Amino acid sequence: MTDKKIYKPCDLVIYGALGDLSKRKLLISLYRLEKACFIEPDTCIIGIDRHDIGSPEFIETAYNSLQEFLNDDLEDIVWKRFSDRLSYLKIDLTRVDQYQQLNTVIDQKSRIMVNYFAVSPFLFKSICQGLAKSGILTASSRMVMEKPIGHDLKSSKEINDEVASVFSEQQVYRIDHYLGKETVLNLLALRFANSIFTTNWNHNTIDHIQITVAEEVGIEGRWDYFDKTGQLRDMLQNHLLQILTFIAMEPPVNLEAESIHNEKIKVLKALRPITISNVEEKTVRGQYAAGYIKGCAVPGYLEEDGANTESTTESFVALRVDIDNWRWAGVPFYLRTGKRLTGKRTEIVVYFKQLPHNIFKDSFRELPPNKLIIHLQPNEGVEIEMLNKIPGIDEHIKLKKTKLDLSFSDTFKTSRIFGGYEKLILEAMRGNPTLFLSREEIEQAWTWIDSIQNAWTHNKDTPKPYPAGTWGPVASVALLARDGRDWEE
Ligand code: BG6
Repeated sequence: MTDKKIYKPCDLVIYGALGDLSKRKLLISLYRLEKACFIEPDTCIIGIDRHDIGSPEFIETAYNSLQEFLNDDLEDIVWKRFSDRLSYLKIDLTRVDQYQQLNTVIDQKSRIMVNYFAVSPFLFKSICQGLAKSGILTASSRMVMEKPIGHDLKSSKEINDEVASVFSEQQVYRIDHYLGKETVLNLLALRFANSIFTTNWNHNTIDHIQITVAEEVGIEGRWDYFDKTGQLRDMLQNHLLQILTFIAMEPPVNLEAESIHNEKIKVLKALRPITISNVEEKTVRGQYAAGYIKGCAVPGYLEEDGANTESTTESFVALRVDIDNWRWAGVPFYLRTGKRLTGKRTEIVVYFKQLPHNIFKDSFRELPPNKLIIHLQPNEGVEIEMLNKIPGIDEHIKLKKTKLDLSFSDTFKTSRIFGGYEKLILEAMRGNPTLFLSREEIEQAWTWIDSIQNAWTHNKDTPKPYPAGTWGPVASVALLARDGRDWEE
């Protein structure tokens, strides 16, 4: 038996199987896992939704979704294998009495029940109650859920409490799809498998760190959801803070879930609070105005379909974050994320400290610092920017900024880079919780984010406009300029 098939077969039940998440991400990822032979032959996929259709129509819907979102050819043999696993049950998710029907399709004796909640959190309560009432859950059952897990600490606690009334913490798999991305996982390898980084990863050698998660897309028909959420809650509370914890955590004793969760929680606890008194100096909020993306005119946030023209929700946020512990004392982390920026780019840039003395003054008045640039997406890779001597026999040594460039696509030509959802769905089926979030982590992150959100509300802060297709409001440049630094462009 290969490493691919060491987990037990599952009954993967998708609640909200006809919804957007299921059609755009879950079914696509499952098909790709099927193609790569990562799904156990006896695993079944059961779609649940309120629409009155049968399995054949669900299979047809899945086929159409794959045609639309796969970006790859649908292979007949793979599709046959995949579609044979699919079935559908009509359940009104708000009707607790209807979950009994699951007993007709779930095989607890030979398969593990994995419940994927691909629905809005307001339905979690009735799904949990319905499952409890049906008596179908066992100690081996799991549940998978993803953001938004609340919109603040209070609502997040309510959701977690509802889920905890039926599933133990060990049975709950909370997804942040960034943790399934190859390059985010590679942070563990980079940091804890390479001595050059392990010994230099602290305030003695690092000047500051930048994390950018820039998106080209706008709101894409999600105005209603997004306007109640904003970029701070939609992206920073989860994806950026997760990347931050991977960069900043202490070495875990092993790769077990508990060891990693504990180290991440310590980082979250050490984040210096941003409050009413310092929010203006540490944060920048922005909202895109009309502009150009790749030469095409695009509307501003307030002109999007369904927009409330008075909205003060931010589509951009930049922060200076300080981590109050021994390793990071005095090393600021600058985080920025926004919609309708110049391009899609997720990267981490680690700026090392400048050398104390320059012996190459004749050719370089000021030696630029070394930089480690980790490209998370697109064009995954790692670069180190360093100075080298230009070959030649001139009187003075001449230096040039050069790059050690490790591109994943060139270096790992034969390995496919799997998407975040593929990795995480597989891990949930395997029963490995390492890459999922613990309740404490989520609640700690909300505590820190709530303080920023409350400070903005208290100060009646309004977002600064920026033209679509730029790097955000000029105030974001000023945020770093005040500290004598600038963003990596
Ligand atoms: C989601 C956010 O979690 O992540 C979206 O809700 C965002 O607003 C998306 O566009 C970005 O994910 P990725 O994988 O494309 O960087």
